[in-house]
Amino acid sequence: MQFTIAIDGPAAAGKGTISKAVAAHFGFAHLDTGLLYRAVGAKTLDGTDPVLAAKALIAQDLDGDALRTPEVAQAASKVAVIAEVRAALVDFQRAFARRLGGAVLDGRDIGTVICPNAEAKLFVTASAEVRAERRYLELKNKGLDITLAQVLADVKERDARDMDRAEAPLKPAVDATMIDTSDLSIEAAVLQAVAAIDAARNSGTEA
Ligand code: DC
Repeated sequence: MQFTIAIDGPAAAGKGTISKAVAAHFGFAHLDTGLLYRAVGAKTLDGTDPVLAAKALIAQDLDGDALRTPEVAQAASKVAVIAEVRAALVDFQRAFARRLGGAVLDGRDIGTVICPNAEAKLFVTASAEVRAERRYLELKNKGLDITLAQVLADVKERDARDMDRAEAPLKPAVDATMIDTSDLSIEAAVLQAVAAIDAARNSGTEA
């Protein structure tokens, strides 16, 4: 059985949490595609060329908490505007999407560019203020010395770069189900996601 669930949205909207929960619910494999761009971005911090880094990416590069810093997030967003970087990462993502047993991919361009024929598509969003607050608490819990104002500025800068780029900009696919998590608990957001995916599964759109 092949079934692809594409989950897109801006930083800290809750797509990672929803994707993991949805993957566990349906017993599907999960790929956080942001990690690919973070791994490439992290390599550029020590001067490596981004295109070479993307072409040489291996599974071990995706491990580790070191990829979860604001500095790496910004570097990821910067390398993500480069067409050759994106092109180098396409085959891996598409192969993952069509693996047997079902796949959940979350990112920015999964429903629009990587898997335009995904059987289910969600676009998860929330206000910039709510997203910044969530990311701030997450980073604070990890012991990072950062202010809410810095995180909000960071979120807005990344949103603008991700949405305004020419290559595969962040935007909902026309056939995506929108989920705004600003005022939703995690449980309520996951329920909405599962309901939308169940509807897609039952509508007989499986390829
Ligand atoms: O989801 P994230 O915050 O880990 O993503 C980090 C950056 O990577 C994000 O700002 C833009 C880029 N990205 C992308 O361009 N396309 C994707 N499918 C996933 C992430």
